[in-house]
Order: sequence, then structure tokens, then C-alpha cells
Amino acid sequence: MRKLVVKLESGQGYPIHLGRGVLRRLPSSLRSRPVGERYAVITDHTVRDLYGETVLAGLERAGLHARIFSFAPGEARKNLRTVESIAGRMLKAGISRSDAVIALGGGVVGDVAGYVAASYMRGIPYIQAPTTLLSMVDSSIGGKVAVDLDSAKNIIGHFWHPSRVFIDPTCLDTLPVRQQRSGWAEIVKHGVIADRDYFGWLEKNAARLLRLRGKAMEDVLARSLSIKSRIVAKDAREADLRMVLNYGHTIGHAIESLTRYRKYTHGEAVAIGMNLEGRLALLLGLWDQADLDRQNRLLRRLRLPTRLPDLSASKIIRSIRHDKKSSNGLPVFALPRRIGAMATRDGRFGLHVDPALIKGTLT
Ligand SMILES: NC(=O)c1ccc[n+]([C@@H]2O[C@H](COP(=O)([O-])OP(=O)(O)OC[C@H]3O[C@@H](n4cnc5c(N)ncnc54)[C@H](O)[C@@H]3O)[C@@H](O)[C@H]2O)c1
Ligand SMILES: [Zn+2]
Repeated sequence: MRKLVVKLESGQGYPIHLGRGVLRRLPSSLRSRPVGERYAVITDHTVRDLYGETVLAGLERAGLHARIFSFAPGEARKNLRTVESIAGRMLKAGISRSDAVIALGGGVVGDVAGYVAASYMRGIPYIQAPTTLLSMVDSSIGGKVAVDLDSAKNIIGHFWHPSRVFIDPTCLDTLPVRQQRSGWAEIVKHGVIADRDYFGWLEKNAARLLRLRGKAMEDVLARSLSIKSRIVAKDAREADLRMVLNYGHTIGHAIESLTRYRKYTHGEAVAIGMNLEGRLALLLGLWDQADLDRQNRLLRRLRLPTRLPDLSASKIIRSIRHDKKSSNGLPVFALPRRIGAMATRDGRFGLHVDPALIKGTLT
């Protein structure tokens, strides 16, 4: 098992336990170092059947009091209706301020459960136990928790850091291949925004990435986690630097909400977003065609989409204007200047972009 730490500016931080079998050891870890008196395990129905009941039984065997609360899987359920339903059930079950949440599942579960933890009785601690590749490398750390409105993604949320993170790569054995690919989109993003060598390694190994297991997979998880945690450590509340993690997401989020959170996985929408935001970087003269082509070639080798679906450019622009990063009515993007490094203007990573230029990349 490896132990990494996400440091925060406050000097505090939280540990990530990474390794095969870590989920089995979660109950004994909580027994020796409790996070709450009792535990509300929040998950979706699919993960409940695969891992939830086992985790619950383990907690009970360790003498811990735990209850499980699940909801139907999928991004279309990442909303306030689900939050209300779960919080209501927790209240009925007597979950109190001295208790804690365990988020067991993918990024949707992590965001819903994290949002519930941040809001329930004005906030209780929570633990992240991610079960998808995407949530292992990205969403389970960093403390951003949010739910969607029908018209805008991740628009209602908090910064609420987990107390501990347990990442068990054995869960990837049951993950459908489309969901594996979705996770690789965020990993490619990590290479583009921060680490040219990592990107080169991904390129060299592209043919076997979807079958990666064991130590090689753990190395990828650790490398992506260290990129994300380094960025979060410097700018947890996204004053500027943390925006680099949103590369591909401004347009990606617009695509997700305009297709009603059903057509694409999050990673697929981000892959399309990386192509389009990469083109925007090209139009702005920030990076060159060769790097954009390398990025897109790797995404396509991972069978990720890069082409914009049949959506009107003006609808996308309207949706982008709702993006949290917009300021003074202008969309803000973080864009690459080469593979492995992001561009800055006047020392800032958040770049205001004229919507007319964005339209140029969409048509
Ligand atoms: N908070 C953040 O910082 C952050 C960062 C990146 C992404 N996100 C969010 O994460 C979400 C996407 O997460 P995701 O891709 O994990 O999607 P997800 O949570 O919807 O999981 C994908 C599907 O896989 C199933 N599943 C989960 N684990 C499984 C397993 N081990 N075996 C078999 N099936 C399994 C789920 O039931 C679901 O149907 C998006 O909502 C995105 O906005 C948040
Ligand atoms: Zn993402």
C-alpha cells in the first residue's frame, strides 16, 4: 500500500491510502482512527450490489454502526432532488452531527455524497472511496463537491475536503470499458496540463493502457494523484492556478448539459472539450498544431471522441456564459502553451476569451 498526502494551504491535509485490498481494510482503519461515531455509506445501486454490501458487512464486523443509502446511477441523478432524498433518509435513520459519510462509488457518488456531507447539519466529515478510474485519479481529491442544475453542470456546490481517501484499484476489474476510457481522458489531461514526460509515457503505452493492471496501474494512479494534489495544495479554492484542471471542461460541461447528461460520459465530453479548447489555444497562437495533433491522436487511440456533436454554436456559447469561471460577462479558459505546460497572461492562468473566437472553433 502507498500513502500519499494532499496538503492544504492551512498546513492541514489528508491522507490517500492507495493499493489493492485497501477497501477491505477500511473498517479496521476507521476502528483504530474513527472519523465519526457512525457512518452513512452513500453509493449508487450498481456499486451497492458490487461492493456496498461487503463494505457494510465489514464495518459491522468491526463493531462500527453503519447504514447504506443508495440512488439510481448516472449523471442525470447528480442533482438536488437526489441530495434531498438521501438527506431525508439519513435523518430518518438518526444520522447526527457526530457521524460521518462514506462516499463509495464513482464521481457522481463522490459529488452527491460530498455535497450531502458538506450541507447535512451544516457539515459533517466524509471519506472518499472511489470505484471508477475517473474518480480515483481526479474527483475523489481536491474537495470540490457539486451537483447539477438541468441548465448548468456543477453549479451548486461547496469546497469540502474529505478526511481520508481510500483507493482500491481492484474495483477497476468490474468497471465497463467505456467507463475506463472516460477515466483515461482525465489522465491525458493531467499530462497535457502539467507533465510532458507523463504524456510521452502514455503515448508510448497507449495500446495497453485499457488493459493496465497491477503495479503499472498503481503507478499511473499515483502519478495523476500527485499532479492533481500539487495543484490543489497551491490553490485549493481556485483563485487562479487550479483552473488548469478545468482544461477541456468549459466546453465539455456545456456539451454535457446540452445533451441532458445522458449522451456522453464525463470523460468523453472532456475529450471533445480538449480538442475544441486546444483549437482555441491554436487560434490564440498559444501552442502549435503539432501538439494539438499529438493530444487528439492519443485521445482517439483511447477510443475517446474528439468531434463536436450536432449542437448549435450559439447554444454552446450561451451555456459557456453560465460557467462558474465566467467573469465580466466573458468566458474564462485555462489553455495549454505546449504539452506539459499551461499558458499565462499577466501572470494568470485564467484567460478571458472573446466569444466570437470561441464560435470560430465551434464552426
Ligand atoms: N469533484 C471533482 O473535482 C470532479 C472532478 C472530475 C469529475 N467530477 C465528476 O465526476 C462525475 C463522473 O464520474 P464517473 O465517471 O466516475 O461517473 P459515475 O459515478 O457515473 O460512474 C460511472 C458508472 O460506473 C458505475 N460504476 C462505478 N464503479 C464501478 C465499478 N467498480 N464497477 C462497475 N461499475 C461501476 C456507476 O454505477 C456508473 O453507472 C461527473 O459528474 C463529474 O462532473 C468531479
Ligand atoms: Zn473532470
